[in-house]
Amino acid sequence: MAESMKGLKRSHRCTEVSNKNIGENVVVMGWVAKRRNLGSLIFVDLRDRSGILQIVFDENDVSKEGFEKAETIRNEFVIAVEGRVEKRGGAVNENLKTGDIEIRAVSLRILSEAQTPPFPIEDGVQTKDELRLKYRYLDLRKPHIQRNLMMRSRITTLVRSFMAEEGFIEIETPILTKSTPEGARDYLVPSRVHPGNFYALPQSPQIFKQLLMCAGYDRYIQIAKCFRDEDLRADRQPEFTQIDMELSFVDVDDVIDVNERLLAKLWKDILGVEVPTPFPRMTWQEAMDRFGSDKPDTRFGFELKDISDLVKECGFSVFAGAIENGGTVRGINIEGQGAMPRKKIDALVEFAKGYGAKGLAYIAINEDGSQKSSFAKFMTEEELQKIVERLDGKPGDLLLFAADRHKIVYSVLGALRCEMAQRLGLLDKNTYHFLWITEFPLFEYSDEEERYVAMHHPFTMPMEEDIDLIESDPGKARAKAYDIVLNGTELGGGSVRIHQDDIQEMMFRALGFSDEEAYEKFGFLINAFKYGVPPHAGLAFGLDRLVMHMVQEDNIRDVIAFPKVKDASCLMSEAPNVVEQKQLDELFIATTYQPDSENDGE
Ligand code: AMO
Ligand code: AMP
Repeated sequence: MAESMKGLKRSHRCTEVSNKNIGENVVVMGWVAKRRNLGSLIFVDLRDRSGILQIVFDENDVSKEGFEKAETIRNEFVIAVEGRVEKRGGAVNENLKTGDIEIRAVSLRILSEAQTPPFPIEDGVQTKDELRLKYRYLDLRKPHIQRNLMMRSRITTLVRSFMAEEGFIEIETPILTKSTPEGARDYLVPSRVHPGNFYALPQSPQIFKQLLMCAGYDRYIQIAKCFRDEDLRADRQPEFTQIDMELSFVDVDDVIDVNERLLAKLWKDILGVEVPTPFPRMTWQEAMDRFGSDKPDTRFGFELKDISDLVKECGFSVFAGAIENGGTVRGINIEGQGAMPRKKIDALVEFAKGYGAKGLAYIAINEDGSQKSSFAKFMTEEELQKIVERLDGKPGDLLLFAADRHKIVYSVLGALRCEMAQRLGLLDKNTYHFLWITEFPLFEYSDEEERYVAMHHPFTMPMEEDIDLIESDPGKARAKAYDIVLNGTELGGGSVRIHQDDIQEMMFRALGFSDEEAYEKFGFLINAFKYGVPPHAGLAFGLDRLVMHMVQEDNIRDVIAFPKVKDASCLMSEAPNVVEQKQLDELFIATTYQPDSENDGE
């Protein structure tokens, strides 16, 4: 018996009504969050996206028929109530914006009835993720998710207006396109008109935004959907959104400047937090050496210290051997944790192994200055003394060491320092450490492909002083690339692009592309550059990650309306799914996939 809205108009959202409206008649509409039946009085908490408002149905105020109708109300019914705003009769609820008022209902319409939802629509109740995502449309009613998505909307609105004022033009780039060079696997879309041919969904608008610079648009911005078929994590989704930009006639500092001002404005206008600009900058090499990571969390210390020079000739073969093999030995000082029980240290060793370590050596310094160590017996007193000094070890400290190839030592100790900070409660979410990482390596060696691959992408400009290294020692060449890091997450990244064809050709050669291959992949960009290209640079933020930080959520799914799960499926719509044979026939597609015979219905 759902009723219509005929003749009724909503006058306020729930929390737009306040004690200033006392005595006025209002019409409010929303979902029933809670209902208490006290005989002659019925209390309802009405919920809409603005919050909660208390409604009272009193036998004496409403018609008999109206009161009987109110008695049938259940949670999640959608109702419209007309009534008078009054000071709350019972105790004031300090937790509610409308906690000092209530609406005395005069009339009620039930606009829609509702089945009992599969989980309570409230914040703070534990519901299995699978269930939440299967019924995402109900989960989306939860106040904290609504707050997140409304915040996301405010953020994009503010980004658009700020960038417009800065002279950026919003331009859409295609979704059905050719493979882009970001290095993840592409999502492909078969073409019906060109049998056997495929579009790729963009991993980013990279090439198109560079073409827009070629075309003279000067400053481009887009809130762009990007698609990457890669393994999902807590801060990754197969489709996600970038705040993507490109600027002409600029260098590194110009891009950094406008983005610092954008971030500072977002934090101030939306969170009321002043973040000091300019943000600190750190080269990639310094970040790796001090923090073992190219996205260091600088809210706490536990910095890496290199002890390779002290142990290269020591009697501990694990250390000496690592250096002999071209590796390194480094340590971190977990201050004040010297009394950590052996079992817990063993657990840390296991943790380290998860990051590729073969082991983890330690020195625990007791309060009386005596030491417990896994490798002291292989060392001289003097060697140990020097190591402890290098790590600034004091009574009560725990020193942890990894010996291996550089890459592994960085990743193990980088992860350990974060893990310890997490366990020790050192990560304050209200502290915001923004940091630019600059001078990334231009290339990184891919063991899998047995060649150098671009660390950012093949259009990234080398640093002027390193151009010769592209041919002589590519591993050492640095790029004009930068990432913006916040509290240990990469929020965004970008680079100055190559606009000179001789440098671009050098890059392609170093990456092992023949002219034909390069042309086949990026021919339209190479051609475009022949007709006059301005020097240009750009950056893209991960919008989802930015919002995650601003609303202080730990999972990217909580800031995306309809997210996917780990295996890239949508539990609600059940995408991806099998399509009709007719659709496949039209596309000239046959699948080679053999379903398990057990699961095969035929
Ligand atoms: P990059 O590949 O570094 O650069 O991506 C930019 C930012 O996008 C976010 N991001 C993601 N967010 C959620 N899920 C994902 N799977 C995901 N992948 C990336 C990150 C990242 O910092 N075209 C270049 C930018 C440029 O050079 O201008 C690019 O896409 O926050
Ligand atoms: P082992 O000689 O294997 O008994 O190891 C002696 C100590 O060195 C143990 O505490 C190991 O955990 C540690 N260890 C082994 N390999 C490494 C490594 N690659 N880096 C740091 N410590 C290690």
